[in-house]
Amino acid sequence: MCGSCKCSQRNSSTISKLPSHYTLPSGDQIPSVALGVWQASKGEVGAAVKAALKSGYRHIDDAWAYHNEEEVGQAIRESAVPRDQIWITSKLWNTFHAPEDVESALDDSLTKLGTDYLDLYLIHWPIAFKKDSNNVLEESLTSDPYPTWQKLEEMVEKGKVRNIGISNFNIPRIKNLTANPLKIQPAVNQVELNFWNPQPELLKWSKENNLLLESYSPLGSNKQVGNTLSIPEVKDIACELGITAAQVIISWHVQRGTIVLPKSVTPSRVEENYHIFELPQDAFDTIERLAAAHPPKRVVNPSKSWGLNFDIFDD
Ligand SMILES: NC(=O)c1ccc[n+]([C@@H]2O[C@H](COP(=O)([O-])OP(=O)(O)OC[C@H]3O[C@@H](n4cnc5c(N)ncnc54)[C@H](OP(=O)(O)O)[C@@H]3O)[C@@H](O)[C@H]2O)c1
Repeated sequence: MCGSCKCSQRNSSTISKLPSHYTLPSGDQIPSVALGVWQASKGEVGAAVKAALKSGYRHIDDAWAYHNEEEVGQAIRESAVPRDQIWITSKLWNTFHAPEDVESALDDSLTKLGTDYLDLYLIHWPIAFKKDSNNVLEESLTSDPYPTWQKLEEMVEKGKVRNIGISNFNIPRIKNLTANPLKIQPAVNQVELNFWNPQPELLKWSKENNLLLESYSPLGSNKQVGNTLSIPEVKDIACELGITAAQVIISWHVQRGTIVLPKSVTPSRVEENYHIFELPQDAFDTIERLAAAHPPKRVVNPSKSWGLNFDIFDD
């Protein structure tokens, strides 16, 4: 279990000094660890949400496109946790970027989740498709997302959403949006961050520009999680600290200053993933160095499967 580690357990920190919350520009406090529910199927996602709330999670990362908002909402309502103590994020899908479609898309998510407001609503991708189309690019709203953003601002003013943000935006796309006279700045940018795609430049730029990052696919998603948790140095750090490899990686994300969104439908893993620990600086530096030592490789990039003639993440 402990690889080459001699298990001299440093026993460093079972009490985490890592932040349990971050403060957004609105003043709202967003929990640093969320349960992600992408690829959490119907029939299993509700139990995962209930297990998460029982373990102490107060943050669920959902999206209209995950097709599980109804079961997530039902599980939240059936839990003993009051709605105002749970942070719910959902995301606007690509076919609803036209300003006239935003509110009905949001209303659909609200109805399915069984709530009258979201804590956070994100533009899921910086890519707009024509409504009811099979991934036909809407070029104007893709190159200029400001009309979509203005409608999201209106949703905040109406009280249907408390915070708004973006997802999968690279730096030029963020600058393209924020060059407009925004009434509300994006609260977060949710992007792929993991050992295989650590994006240190984006992280640095985001900190310098006060834009909080949310780490999606933090374990490398289902395709890479096995490889992530088998990295010898990660296993050794886990062994030394007496925690699991998944806890090392999830803690690393929060220690980098990001929100982390691990997904699991396995109750024991849901519980495991919630407990984060401050890593000793040398352990943190080792992971940071190793993660940056190989060419970055994304797990999630639908550019080709959507038939785009450009890469969503190219500058
Ligand atoms: N904005 C976007 O475009 C976007 C894109 C991707 C993801 N996301 C968000 O980020 C969340 C997480 O990303 P993800 O689902 O791609 O990947 P992930 O959280 O990196 O990995 C999930 C995989 O890891 C396994 N796993 C979880 N905890 C484990 C543990 N302690 N030990 C061993 N295996 C473990 C899960 O298995 P089991 O479930 O079988 O336990 C699942 O196969 C999503 O659910 C979603 O909320 C957003």
